[in-house]
Amino acid sequence: MEATTSEYIEVRESGIHNLGVYAKKDIPKGARVIEYVGERITKAEADRRSEAHMSLADNDDSNGRVYIFELNKSHDIDGNVPWNTARYINHSCSPNCEAELIRGHIWIIAKKRIKHGEEISYNYGYGFDDYDKHPCNCGSKNCIGYILDKRHWPKLRKIMDR
Ligand SMILES: C[S@@+](CC[C@H](N)C(=O)[O-])C[C@H]1O[C@@H](n2cnc3c(N)ncnc32)[C@H](O)[C@@H]1O
Ligand SMILES: [Zn+2]
Repeated sequence: MEATTSEYIEVRESGIHNLGVYAKKDIPKGARVIEYVGERITKAEADRRSEAHMSLADNDDSNGRVYIFELNKSHDIDGNVPWNTARYINHSCSPNCEAELIRGHIWIIAKKRIKHGEEISYNYGYGFDDYDKHPCNCGSKNCIGYILDKRHWPKLRKIMDR
């Protein structure tokens, strides 16, 4: 299977972590930057893969689910396949993209105009459990310090203020 590509992006070394995805030209707000593809699996299989990943890497559930996206009530997409170029997109606390489900396909959509050379990012939406196992290196001005869904930020701020 050939790796997915898009007129908008290229993969190269990232200041956030290892490899990342970068805009190779200006991207208009609302554009479909790249499709997040993978293997269509049942929820039961997704749970099994997350657990296997956890015990292998001694990681928590959110890490096990790094590549797993909800497709519908019965199925998920496991993006941990070599042809899914979108798997190189890093997390940011000030992301310029978000993942959206559009007619059975997961798309990485530009939330704002993205300039040539900017790194493509979205919020991974990690849960609160074991947040401290996932320090964030996004470098954005309002980085909360951990890879965490924005809805959990108030809880984390309370803990940090103590
Ligand atoms: C889906 S991969 C992203 C691509 C990754 N940079 C690579 O080269 O394979 C997810 C992993 O990248 C790392 N990562 C992504 N965003 C990060 C961030 N903001 N801060 C620290 N590590 C990050 C974490 O190790 C995470 O488990
Ligand atoms: Zn951050």
